[in-house]
Amino acid sequence: MSVLSIVHYPGPVLQEVGKPVGDEEFNGDLEKLVSDMFETMAEARGVGLAAPQVGVSKRLFVMDVPVEGGEPERHVLVNPEIIDVEGEQTGDEGCLSFPGLYQVVRREMRVIARARNVKGEEFELDVADLAARCILHETDHCDGIVFLDRMTPLKRQMAKRKIKTLQKTGKWN
Ligand code: NI
Repeated sequence: MSVLSIVHYPGPVLQEVGKPVGDEEFNGDLEKLVSDMFETMAEARGVGLAAPQVGVSKRLFVMDVPVEGGEPERHVLVNPEIIDVEGEQTGDEGCLSFPGLYQVVRREMRVIARARNVKGEEFELDVADLAARCILHETDHCDGIVFLDRMTPLKRQMAKRKIKTLQKTGKWN
């Protein structure tokens, strides 16, 4: 396994729509990419990481979200689809492509998603709270959407100002 380098905003790959993973791509290369992504995410102390964030414009992401009083939601979602959403949550969100930036983003509270695992088998997840926020955030990455795009115009303006400051101090590259 190896730690991959994470693309920071405004890397162009972050704004491209990822290509679906084809049936013939469920092989050793995909397994290697997925285990590298898990390692990269763990090293960066993230709870989710999408392929475009490591420069691969494909529709897949890994997640490892702690759940209070339960097992962590640790999965790889290949070709993820949001099947249903319910409710609403408002809270701080971060992104490994925006180091040091946290901003309030409104998301749905519960998500039912369908995807394939690394072997190509289809499965569904029904999650809430942080895991739901993570799935929505990472599926956005597969569509070339970053969390900046989900903020209110005022919060986006504040976030952009903060990014400029972080860039100047060299904490962002
Ligand atoms: Ni992100």
